[in-house]
Amino acid sequence: MRVEPVSGRVLSGPLTDVYVYEAPVRLWHWVTVLCITVLGVTGYFISAPLPAMGVGADASTYFVTGWIRMVHFTAGWILAVAFLVRLYWVIVGNHHARSIFYIPFWSGAWWRGLFRQAGYYAFVRSESDHWIGHNPMAQAAMFFMFTLGLVVMILTGFGLYAQGYPTGGSGPRCSAG
Ligand code: HEM
Repeated sequence: MRVEPVSGRVLSGPLTDVYVYEAPVRLWHWVTVLCITVLGVTGYFISAPLPAMGVGADASTYFVTGWIRMVHFTAGWILAVAFLVRLYWVIVGNHHARSIFYIPFWSGAWWRGLFRQAGYYAFVRSESDHWIGHNPMAQAAMFFMFTLGLVVMILTGFGLYAQGYPTGGSGPRCSAG
C-alpha cells in the first residue's frame, strides 16, 4: 500500500492494517471524555445551583454546591494534567499522536487532501479517498475546535480558579474560589 506523506491519503492498494492510535492516546481520549462530561454537568450546577432542600431548608447546613464545585475542580485538574501528559506523548508517540496538535500549513499534499475531502462532503466527489489516521479535514476540525478549544477551557478554568487565591498559593484562600 502506498500512502502520501503528510496527508495520509492512500495512493494505491491493496489496503493493509496500520497501527494508528497508541494506548496512551486512547487512554487520554477516554479520560478527557469523562472529565469534559463531569465538567459540563457540574459546571451547569455551579451556574444554576440546586436549592437547599429538606427539614428547615437552611442553606448553611448544606454543602451540595460545595461538593459539586469540588468535583468540578478535581475533574479540571485531571483534565489539565492528562493534557500535559498527552503533550509529552505528542513528542514521543508515533506521528499520528501529533495529528490533532498541528496543521501542516506548508504542505501542498495536505491542502489538496483537505479540498478533496471537502469535495466529497459537499457531494462534488462521489467517492471518498482512503486515509491512514485522520483525513486533513478532520485534522483541521480537531485542531481548531477540539485541541485549541481544550486549551482555552483549561486556561479560562484555571483563570477562574486563580481568583480563589488572590495573593498566590501561600496566601489566605478567598471564599469565592
Ligand atoms: C470542559 C471544560 C470545562 C467546562 C465545560 C466548564 C464549565 C463551567 C461552567 C458552566 C461554570 C459556571 C460558570 C458560571 O456560573 O458563570 C464553571 C465554573 C468554574 N470552573 Fe469550569 N469548566 C471547565 C473546565 C474547568 C477547569 C479545567 C477548571 C480548573 C480547575 C475549572 C474551574 C472552574 C471554576 C473555578 C469555576 C467557578 C466556580 C465558582 O465560581 O463557584 N473549570 N465551569
